[in-house]
Amino acid sequence: MKIYDFDHIVDRRTTGAVKVDALKRVFGKSELIPLWVADMDFETPDFIIDAMRKRLEHPVFGYTVEPAELWPTVQDWIYTHHQWKTSPEMFAFIPGIVKGIGMAINALLEKDEKVIIQPPVYHPFRIVPQENGRQIVYNPLIHNADGSYSMDFDHLESISDPKCKMLILSNPHNPAGIVWDRESLIKLARICHSKGITVISDEIHCDMALFGNKHIPFASTCPEAAACSITFQAPSKTFNIAGIVSSYAVVPDETLRNRFFSYLKANEFSSPDIFAPIATIAA
Ligand SMILES: Cc1ncc(COP(=O)(O)O)c(C=O)c1O
Repeated sequence: MKIYDFDHIVDRRTTGAVKVDALKRVFGKSELIPLWVADMDFETPDFIIDAMRKRLEHPVFGYTVEPAELWPTVQDWIYTHHQWKTSPEMFAFIPGIVKGIGMAINALLEKDEKVIIQPPVYHPFRIVPQENGRQIVYNPLIHNADGSYSMDFDHLESISDPKCKMLILSNPHNPAGIVWDRESLIKLARICHSKGITVISDEIHCDMALFGNKHIPFASTCPEAAACSITFQAPSKTFNIAGIVSSYAVVPDETLRNRFFSYLKANEFSSPDIFAPIATIAA
């Protein structure tokens, strides 16, 4: 196995990398430390580049079928790393997690239905629903005296009116850096399930739990969580391939799955491009 040199500085200027090449446009200066986009500077592993290079050797890049090994490979990863047993029909490709949030809003919510978020949180959780004409309801995290954060369940119960139909969960939480514990996830699931709230569990950072922490997929925690949730995961952060745009939705509940996946299918959003499955399988 190759030893990766994470101290090697990769100069990404003029490669079209948004975090550096858009600095001037967004902030008025180019010489800034680009901490504004979670896009890392380590090189994509060779086994991903090699798999893509192999496909490049064929000179035709036409319409492509989803490879049969895509979901079994992803299932194996999820089971090995996160001990969540899934089945292939639970999966659909999505072209990015932020886009997936927008798709779930449009597929599942009426215009007057509201979205709950738990700030401080990744800003597209607010922007995507708002730009799609949905009202945001805030359930702020509690900032504890020791610097840690926890969910405010009493507040969540008090603000959830019948128009609140979706909650976007950041699991692990960006930016608070929390790997949510099982008890919090089960509590959240029970509240949301009882109130008819669909939980979108954004688990894009799930493979990167540090310091002995262990990621727990929301849907794996209890039957209520499995029944009311759509989980989004991706190899984007783990392998630093966000630009390849490969992510997926996992929906255990058949009714919810049919509603969401039929919307994706109707719009061909769940048809991956040629390189996304190649990179994902290699990863
Ligand atoms: C919590 C979280 N979700 C989603 C994304 C972006 O996902 P995608 O590029 O698949 O839209 C990020 C990127 O930083 C993130 O931090």
